[in-house]
Amino acid sequence: MEKRTVIQTSLYYNEKVTNYVAIHPEDDMFSKAKLVEIFTPYDVVEFEVILHSTVTLGAIALNRFQRKKYHLKKYRSYFVRCCSSEKSSRTLFDIINERFNFKTKIGGMESVLEEIVGDVLLSRLYPQSFTSKTQINKPRGFLLHGRPGTGKTLLARTICDILDVTPKVIRGPEIFSCMLGESEKKIRELFDDARHDQKVYGANSKLHVIIFDEIDAICKNRAHGGLVRDTVHNNVTAQLLAEIDGMVYLDNILLIGTTNFLEEIDPALLRPGRIETVIEIKLPDATARSHIFDIYTKALLRNGALNQDVNINNIIQRTEGMTGSHVERLVRMATHAAMKRDITERNKFDVTEEEGDILEVCNRDFSEALSKLRPQL
Ligand SMILES: Nc1ncnc2c1ncn2[C@@H]1O[C@H](COP(=O)(O)OP(=O)(O)O)[C@@H](O)[C@H]1O
Ligand SMILES: [Mg+2]
Repeated sequence: MEKRTVIQTSLYYNEKVTNYVAIHPEDDMFSKAKLVEIFTPYDVVEFEVILHSTVTLGAIALNRFQRKKYHLKKYRSYFVRCCSSEKSSRTLFDIINERFNFKTKIGGMESVLEEIVGDVLLSRLYPQSFTSKTQINKPRGFLLHGRPGTGKTLLARTICDILDVTPKVIRGPEIFSCMLGESEKKIRELFDDARHDQKVYGANSKLHVIIFDEIDAICKNRAHGGLVRDTVHNNVTAQLLAEIDGMVYLDNILLIGTTNFLEEIDPALLRPGRIETVIEIKLPDATARSHIFDIYTKALLRNGALNQDVNINNIIQRTEGMTGSHVERLVRMATHAAMKRDITERNKFDVTEEEGDILEVCNRDFSEALSKLRPQL
């Protein structure tokens, strides 16, 4: 174990990793390590190593936000050690993330992404030399449920990026905007391309993904009666279930459903052989919110428009109970608060380019945004 002095770097904000330390390339102790652990005042935290010759030899450099986040003081020394074995400390998620780079788009979904990739997508991503020998049915899809704004739609689209597929996206409520009988036809037609490809290309058919966003509107629990449109709803639900059952013959299709109301979904949809994997997207905890915050402040940080006084820990604490969508909105609102403040302080609307260039989003802008965001919870 070595003690190292923390210095600050404003070198860059790495796109690919959340936590990193910059180390001099000739630092014998750590330059070969991919990961190091730093004993922060409260925890032992893993950081990826980035080599940079501008870092003082024998020091470890962090950007100011990482320093603040982990309570590491400038010019103080902390215990640092190499992670014993890089391989054993890397989780499946780390390996998946290295390949697909989720962390830059979606925060705090490690276990969910690991579950989806591991349990649903692998049979489509792993070499056929193995999968063709197994004869297991490929999972037909999964359902994401959770509070509005927790990132279900974003996650569904991210999965399509991983699969490199442009999905067909059907928003539940939209299906009913058509003429009587048309809704069922629309559902049927959604599966047509996959059916056609399977017929023509067989095992070589490309993958088709259909996202049923807010699927509760399409697949309403038929036991909950009383609505005027019940017959239409029932027909549409029956049509969707029939199509899913027909997918037995289709290997080239994946369904992703999202819903804010799991209890309103017809349980028939979730029976074995249909959409069996149901995944809850929970409210983000402090670590997850801090990742999401990093994603949306990345540009501000990189371009030097985030003031030093921004107290991330305090902001993260004050966003308890909020969704990813709230965090994103918070950053947007703070940015607007900064512009409003600047105009008021300058007492003129026509701020020049030069004047705008020196504006920074400050802690009080976040406080202002937080005070406005709170009542909406
Ligand atoms: N985990 C997250 N990481 C990054 N951004 C998020 C996350 N959760 C929500 N957001 C932001 O909130 C927006 C709304 O999320 P969305 O996927 O529409 O939520 P849902 O479908 O669960 O209602 C997203 O487009 C994104 O900007
Ligand atoms: Mg949604």
